[in-house]
Amino acid sequence: MSASNAAQIWAVIGASGTGKGLWIKQQLAALQPARLVCWDFKNEYGDYARPVETLEGIRRAMLTAGSGPLRIRYLPRGAGEKNVRKEFETLCELVYAWGQCVFVAEELSNVTTPGWAPAAWRKMTTSGRHEAVHIIGATQNPALVDKTFLGNCTLVHVCALREYPHRQYVARSIDCPLQSVTDLQQFEWIERDYATGELRNGRVQVPGKAGRANGPRASATGAARACQSSTGGSAIATP
Ligand SMILES: Nc1ncnc2c1ncn2[C@@H]1O[C@H](COP(=O)(O)OP(=O)(O)OP(=O)(O)O)[C@@H](O)[C@H]1O
Ligand SMILES: [Mg+2]
Repeated sequence: MSASNAAQIWAVIGASGTGKGLWIKQQLAALQPARLVCWDFKNEYGDYARPVETLEGIRRAMLTAGSGPLRIRYLPRGAGEKNVRKEFETLCELVYAWGQCVFVAEELSNVTTPGWAPAAWRKMTTSGRHEAVHIIGATQNPALVDKTFLGNCTLVHVCALREYPHRQYVARSIDCPLQSVTDLQQFEWIERDYATGELRNGRVQVPGKAGRANGPRASATGAARACQSSTGGSAIATP
């Protein structure tokens, strides 16, 4: 959470293997949130949170933690789309009630649609109404994610996209030239920070590989600019 407790809603969009997860993990490493909940679809946040087997277990852990620190992750286990959505709905209700945390939600297109998302998710992703949860939502497919979420993001972070309609969609969404999205290679990104209006681009660091990279930010705004000056990322003029 940022010290100011301002609403932070981040969308992370890109094709499979383009660097979404790497980038999110680098943000978590920088943010060091004391309170973290991960909807850990691919069982990949083990370095950041401990797994809790059941949603009832999540509820109990939150009750025990109260307003104190807790970093947990939930691996959806339901069979079928409907059951997984139901699990996400319950987790969202728990996160909404608990508040004051970072909530990472992986592969949103599995659990929301353009016209539907769990009520608690909608409340959390509606800027200004609920400012106590910093949302980081990832998806491979921007067109399948609920519109309220994308419409209220304070930061939209875009990695490479293979499909033309997806590139068109995000270029419109972050108001940048389509070519800037088309040109993205694996690990490269472009993002719109709606807190400042700034359009930035850069490259995520791959563990074990040297090279130019934009390091993680400590917030959606200030630290990112500091990273750029030291690592070669750049702000892009608004078209
Ligand atoms: N810790 C790591 N060390 C080295 N390479 C990694 C590491 N984590 C991920 N990678 C590689 O970086 C690439 C991007 O991984 P990442 O998890 O960020 O993909 P993603 O965009 O989240 O994809 P998906 O939508 O499939 O989850 C992959 O090729 C992956 O093998
Ligand atoms: Mg991923």
